[in-house]
Amino acid sequence: MNAITCEDLRKFFRAKVKRSFFSREDSLIRALDGVSLGVERGVVFSLVGPNGAGKTTMVKILSTLLIPDGGRAEVGGYDVVKQANHVRRIIGLVLAPDKGFYTRLTGIENLVYYGRLYGLSKEEAVKKAEQLLELTGLGADGARLYEEYSLGMRAKLSIAKALINDPEIVFLDEPTIGLDPLSARRIRSLIKDLATQGMTVFMTSHNMWEVEALSNTVAVIKSGKIVAEGSPAELKERLRLSYRLEVEIIADKSPDINFPVTVGERGYPVVTMETDRPGEDLVKVIDEVRRLGYSVGGVRVLEPSLEEVLTRVLSR
Ligand SMILES: Nc1ncnc2c1ncn2[C@@H]1O[C@H](COP(=O)(O)OP(=O)(O)OP(=O)(O)O)[C@@H](O)[C@H]1O
Ligand SMILES: [Mg+2]
Repeated sequence: MNAITCEDLRKFFRAKVKRSFFSREDSLIRALDGVSLGVERGVVFSLVGPNGAGKTTMVKILSTLLIPDGGRAEVGGYDVVKQANHVRRIIGLVLAPDKGFYTRLTGIENLVYYGRLYGLSKEEAVKKAEQLLELTGLGADGARLYEEYSLGMRAKLSIAKALINDPEIVFLDEPTIGLDPLSARRIRSLIKDLATQGMTVFMTSHNMWEVEALSNTVAVIKSGKIVAEGSPAELKERLRLSYRLEVEIIADKSPDINFPVTVGERGYPVVTMETDRPGEDLVKVIDEVRRLGYSVGGVRVLEPSLEEVLTRVLSR
């Protein structure tokens, strides 16, 4: 059985649009416009897409914070509308900004409070909270007041809170936003570990490199519709994405060469081409440059990236 299934999920908002100082009219926004998908247990599933595409709306519906206007969704085998209480018990949720903390309490006091809400004893809650402070990298900052927390410390505490009930499924809406590179790396490795231990992770992110490194499956959403889905490798393969070669030629002006040439960052001509066989073509280009009597300033081989996938899919 899938951890998450949804069929033809729809969510509409009435947005007030100001036409002028005096006139306003309502327009209908299709935040989710018939989304169907399935997420297997124990995988990291990432939902990506441009601002306003419907990602947060999706997370809110699956975590029972919003009620859909159409379609249905099951999380852990429970219906998100009819069995919302069951769903809440088995999930963890990170939404930014997280308004669920008491500013006058310390980080650990907040975590213990949530642990108690989930029915842990005082001792269990403290033990779990301490463990999560270590895991997320908050450590000793757990003893400080929440109101004094930096953006990144708040983000880490949100992730700790989401894990306090040992959820089966965790929803992370932009989990590494605002984190410094080391903290982001720690959170990414935590996400990987959680999935290895069998937890299902449903996340959103604008960092395509991060999505590629973490996800078993990626779905691209655009204007409330899923427009592509698959593993990062499958998506690249399906779009026949190729390597990009760049060979810089030390010359004042573009030489008469049988490859496409652009002007590079240093002002020198650069042979720039897309290819499935980067090794062979690189040798060909370099041979040709030398044959014409020029020297090669530098060489770059860029692998196809998920960012490229996204750019292509979204510009269709
Ligand atoms: N409460 C609301 N009232 C009106 N419109 C809303 C509401 N919540 C979301 N929307 C609209 O629904 C659409 C989808 O928003 P959503 O927050 O799901 O996008 P997103 O994919 O998470 O974007 P981002 O990458 O910027 O976080 C947007 O057009 C947004 O303005
Ligand atoms: Mg969002």
